[in-house]
Amino acid sequence: MKAILHCDKEWGIGKKNGLMFSIPADMKFFRETTTGKTVVMGSNTLLSFPNGKPLKNRTNIVLWPGAEKREDCIVVNSLEELIEEIKKYNSDDVYVIGGAMMYKTLLDYCSEVLVTKVNAIGNADAFFENLDKSENFYLAEESEPIETNGYLIKFCTYKNKNTKEF
Ligand SMILES: NC(=O)c1ccc[n+]([C@@H]2O[C@H](COP(=O)([O-])OP(=O)(O)OC[C@H]3O[C@@H](n4cnc5c(N)ncnc54)[C@H](OP(=O)(O)O)[C@@H]3O)[C@@H](O)[C@H]2O)c1
Repeated sequence: MKAILHCDKEWGIGKKNGLMFSIPADMKFFRETTTGKTVVMGSNTLLSFPNGKPLKNRTNIVLWPGAEKREDCIVVNSLEELIEEIKKYNSDDVYVIGGAMMYKTLLDYCSEVLVTKVNAIGNADAFFENLDKSENFYLAEESEPIETNGYLIKFCTYKNKNTKEF
């Protein structure tokens, strides 16, 4: 299982239950990486999408305690149920896509984290753990900085030295 996100210089990932940046090159990377795969999210992230609808062309699993089951995505009501659901898929094809609470819950189980670093301050109110200070994660790959839509971004891959199994 992997996590995928973009963050600002302070590892901020969101503001007012929305994203801080809309950068086409990052969105393209996210879409190409996750299409055809399984994406795992918390309830707030689903609600942050247009009309609260899941992502197209992906199996969407949402951890949403107390919510009813629905047709357009797989709703699970507890972490135990989430883990049983995730186990049904090939772990290489499962991406944790947020938000802050979901990332924190599953980070130890992720073998890799794909981070698009944006060289800006987004005044976030939601944060990801600073992997540059992590004991478990190390920076395995990093692109050259790319200038796009007025931002400087870098695609980075962090790897987990000690991935936990379910
Ligand atoms: N930069 C990025 O790449 C990126 C990606 C995704 C999201 N985001 C941002 O992240 C922010 C949202 O973060 P968030 O933490 O509020 O959202 P979240 O993780 O999507 O949703 C949190 C909710 O999910 C459920 N949940 C998550 N983990 C749980 C656990 N271990 N046990 C039980 N329930 C759990 C709970 O639902 P209930 O409250 O219903 O019980 C919880 O309140 C937004 O600003 C969003 O835009 C950024």
